[in-house]
Amino acid sequence: MAIDFQQDILSPVATDFAAMDQFINEGISSKVALVMSVSKHVVEAGGKRMRPIMCLLAAQACGETDLTRTQKLAAVIEMLHTATLVHDDVVDESNLRRGRPTANATWNNQTAVLVGDFLIARSFDLLVDLNHMPLLKEFSTGTCEIAEGEVLQLQAQHQPETTEEIYLDIIYGKTSRLFQLATEGAAMLAGKPEYRTALKKYAGHFGNAFQIIDDILDYTSDKETLGKNIGDDLMEGKPTLPLITALKNTHGEAHQMIYKSIATGGLDDLDQVIQVVQNSGALDYCRKRAHEETQAAIDALELLPNTQARQALFNLAHLALNRIQ
Ligand code: IPE
Ligand code: IPE
Ligand code: MG
Ligand code: MG
Repeated sequence: MAIDFQQDILSPVATDFAAMDQFINEGISSKVALVMSVSKHVVEAGGKRMRPIMCLLAAQACGETDLTRTQKLAAVIEMLHTATLVHDDVVDESNLRRGRPTANATWNNQTAVLVGDFLIARSFDLLVDLNHMPLLKEFSTGTCEIAEGEVLQLQAQHQPETTEEIYLDIIYGKTSRLFQLATEGAAMLAGKPEYRTALKKYAGHFGNAFQIIDDILDYTSDKETLGKNIGDDLMEGKPTLPLITALKNTHGEAHQMIYKSIATGGLDDLDQVIQVVQNSGALDYCRKRAHEETQAAIDALELLPNTQARQALFNLAHLALNRIQ
C-alpha cells in the first residue's frame, strides 16, 4: 500500500512540526532587510522538510514526550540545510530551486554567499539557546564535515576516474552527515544516548539512499516535477553514481562520450548521456544501491523500541526511496 505522508509519517509529530515553523520564521528575521528577503525567498518556497521531520520523530522514538526543545533543534537543522542549499546553488551555478529562481539568480553570488553565512551563524545562535554543550560540539564538528564533503565534491569535478568509494565519501559529508545530526541530536537532547548509534546509522544510510535517488533524478526527472533543473550535475561535470556506473558498464564510443562529458562538463551530450545511463544498466544499479542503503537504514531501527514514531521513520525511508521530487 502506498505511504500517505500526513497519515503514516507526519501524524505523530504534526503539532510540533507546525510549531517548529515559528522558530524558523523567527530565525530568519534580521534587522537588515536584504538578509530577510533572501532568507524568506528560499524558506517560503517550502521544501520537503525531511530533516526536521526526522529529527522530531527520532526524539519521539527515543521516548521523549515533550518535544518543545526538539522543535528548536529541528528548526536549526532546517536552517542549516537551507544555508547549504543557498551556498550549493552558487557553487553549482544553479538557477532553479524549489520551483523558484535561486538566490544567486535572483540577487547575485555575493548576496547568496553572505546570506548563507548568516543562516549558518543564526542556526548556531539558536542552538546555543538549548544550553547543551555536547550537542553544540557535535553540530560544530558535523558542520565542518558537511563543508568538507562539498569541497571533496569540488575536487572530484571533471574527474572521470572518481570511484564509487570516493562518491560515497562525498555524499556522506555533504548529505548524510546532516541527517545524522538530526537524529543523533534528537537522542542527545532527549537524554537517551543509548539510542544514538542506532539512530545515527539509520540517518547515515537514509542520507546515502536520499542522495543516490537525487542523483538519479538529475537524469530522469523534469524541472516541473523536481523544482530544479535537470542535467545540472552533467553541466558541472560531476561524477555522480549514474555516470560512475555508466563508465564501468560501457566501452568504446559510449564510454568515451561519458568520459568526455565528465571531463569537460556542459549539456551538449545530455540526450546521449541519458540514453547510455539508461541502457547500460547504470540506473538499475543505482536503484539497487539505494534499496540496499534503505534496507540498512531500516535494519538499524530494530534497536529502538517498537513505537508509532519508529514506524513513521520506517515509512519515511520507504517514501524517500520512491520519491519523485
Ligand atoms: C536537496 O535536499 C539537497 C540534497 C541533499 C539532495 P532536499 O531534496 O531535501 O531539498 P528540499 O529541502 O526538499 O528543497
Ligand atoms: C546538495 O547537493 C547540496 C548539499 C547537500 C549541501 P547537490 O548539488 O547534489 O543537490 P541539488 O541537486 O543541488 O539539490
Ligand atoms: Mg546542487
Ligand atoms: Mg543534485
